[in-house]
Formats: sequence, structure tokens, C-alpha cells
Amino acid sequence: MSDLASLEKRALTGLNACPDEAGLRDWHTQYFGKQGEVLLAIKKVGEVPPAERRTYGQEANRIKELLTTAYDSALARQKEKALNQDLESAALDVTLPGRPVRRGRLHVATQDMRRITSIFADMGFQVYRSREIEDDLTNFELLNMPPHHPARDMWDTFHTTTPGVLLRTHTSPGQIHVMRQRCPKPIRVILPGMCYRYEAITTRSEIMFQQIEGLAVGDNVSMTDLKGTIIAFARRLFGKDRQVRIRSSYFPFTEPSIEVDMDCIVCSGKGCGLCKGTGWLEIMGAGMVLPIVLKNGGYDPDRFSGFAFGMGIQRISMLMYGIDDIRYFWANDLRFLEQF
Ligand code: FA5
Repeated sequence: MSDLASLEKRALTGLNACPDEAGLRDWHTQYFGKQGEVLLAIKKVGEVPPAERRTYGQEANRIKELLTTAYDSALARQKEKALNQDLESAALDVTLPGRPVRRGRLHVATQDMRRITSIFADMGFQVYRSREIEDDLTNFELLNMPPHHPARDMWDTFHTTTPGVLLRTHTSPGQIHVMRQRCPKPIRVILPGMCYRYEAITTRSEIMFQQIEGLAVGDNVSMTDLKGTIIAFARRLFGKDRQVRIRSSYFPFTEPSIEVDMDCIVCSGKGCGLCKGTGWLEIMGAGMVLPIVLKNGGYDPDRFSGFAFGMGIQRISMLMYGIDDIRYFWANDLRFLEQF
């Protein structure tokens, strides 16, 4: 019985001295493992004289239960202590300001596309989205460029593996789509989107770039309407005092065809580096829609007339911000993109 009393005392002192969970588990092995002192003490009951056996057994069991309860609660206390320590050391200070989220922005091409679109929207032009993958028929033939037409040389493109299916070289094939859809109602639309050309990449030319096409079809639509629309557009985008100059040009799908220049935004026509001393900057190609093209769109050219224009968005952005190399647009260099 005295062995049991000293076992109880030693075990409790040892338990209280355990510094952490690992210590507690060692303690448990020492007293309750296969060769643990408590279990050995219980087994010893057989060696005790029969008269004392019952009392010994009861006492041994009492000590076993007492130590088990003491161990369980010490372990629980230790776990709570460890958790609290953990929470304190990795404390989350909810009053700290958060890490700033890096804000994205719209690409300069998208910004300018939207700016130009909203100017034409104010003049009553709707946006018509047309496909980027076209067939040869719509990109060329229906725009009066049959196979082997010399003008096709200006617009070499990328061809798909399906014969006759290609990446459009300009937004003009959209004219055919919108006319066929709206005929015989009057039309006033712009057609924005990406175009592709198989040509050498230079500071002014990319193999992919965006255009905005404009098309107006109706009764008595005239060159004067085209001129007024272009002047109003140039003054809204570049400033109210802008002068516009029209030169004759050639496109297979317009007659007459014109090229539109605007007085240089840097030198106002005096001549500088940007305008190469001419005082003028080219902003778009345009003209009156050829009767055969109107007919291909489903309109009777004897009754209807129309004008069309097409401009390159990146070239316009280059003029607005003085960007000297078109390759910056798709190079994904943040130092460039974050300036807009
Ligand atoms: C055309 O594409 C005609 N479809 C425009 C048109 C529409 C004329 C309706 C008449 C009526 P052009 O090939 O000139 O024309 O291209 C028009 C504009 O696209 C150019 O003035 C230029 O701003 C832009 N552009 C052409 N090629 C490139 C290129 N490789 N990289 C960047 N911009 C280009």
C-alpha cells in the first residue's frame, strides 16, 4: 500500500512538472504504457496477500482513475495554452490597412476606340460588329476586287487552311454584311474591329491593327454629307479649330475616292517633324460607295447613294499622343501601357 501511495505522489508531481504536450505524452508512456508503472502496480494485485488484496485492488484502481483524469485535464490545458500562444504569436491585426490592389486599366486602343465610337454615336451612327474571319468573296470580290485585281496587292493577308477563308484586311467587308441585313432601310453605322495584313512590320505598320469603318446609305446621301461628317468628327476628337483637307485617291469600292488630311496638331500647318514638313496629317480614306457595291449589298443604286470611310485607330492614337512607333501597342510593356 505504501508503494501505491508513493506512486501516486511521484506521478502527480511528474505530471505537474511537464512543460509541454511532448512531456505529457512521455509521462503517459511512463505510467500508462505497456510497461507503465500504473499498469504494473495493478498487475501486482496477484502478489498481495489475500487479506489485503481487495483493499489494494480498490486503491490501485482509484489511483489509475485519478491519474487518468489528471492527465486528460493537463493535456487539455496544455493544448489550450499552445493554441493561445499560437494565436498571440501570429496575431491578425484587423486594424492594419490592407495591401493595395493593383488597379488595371483599359488598353489605350480600347480607350480611343470608345472615344471615337461615342463621337459617331452623337452623330447618330450605330455600332455594327462584323466578323474578323472573312471569305475572299466579301473581303475582295463584292467590294469590286475580282481575283487578280491589282488592288489586292495592297492588301495581302493571312489565309486559313480552308480555301477562300482569310483574316480580313480591312473593315470594309462589313459594309456588305450590314447592307444585306438592313436593306432597303437607310443605314448609318460604324464598324470597328481588328484587321490583319501580311506585310513588313515597321514603325508605322503592324500585321494586326484596328480600323473604324463608317457607312451611310440613304436617299440623296452626298459628298457634302461625307465632308461635313469628317470635319465634325476631326474637330470633336482633335480640337475645334482643326482644318480638313481632301485629296483625290483611289479605292476599288468608292468613286470618287478621297484621302482625308487634317492640319498638323503640333504645328497647325506650319510644318514640323510630325507632319514631315507638309503641315498635314493623313487621317482616313473615304469616298462615295460604288453603285456595284450598293447593288451587292442589295440596294438599288438608282435610288440610293452612300458614303464610306475607314481609319486606322492606332495611327490616330499615334497622332494624338505623339507615339513614334506602332509596335508599342501590342508589345505589352507596362511602361508604355501605364501612360494612358
Ligand atoms: C482601307 O483599308 C480602306 N478599306 C479604307 C476605306 C474605307 C476607304 C471605306 C474608302 C471607304 P487603307 O489600306 O488605306 O484603306 O487603310 C486605312 C487605314 O488603316 C490607313 O489610313 C491606316 O490608318 C490604317 N492602316 C493600314 N495599314 C495599316 C498597318 N499595317 N498598320 C496600322 N495601320 C494601318
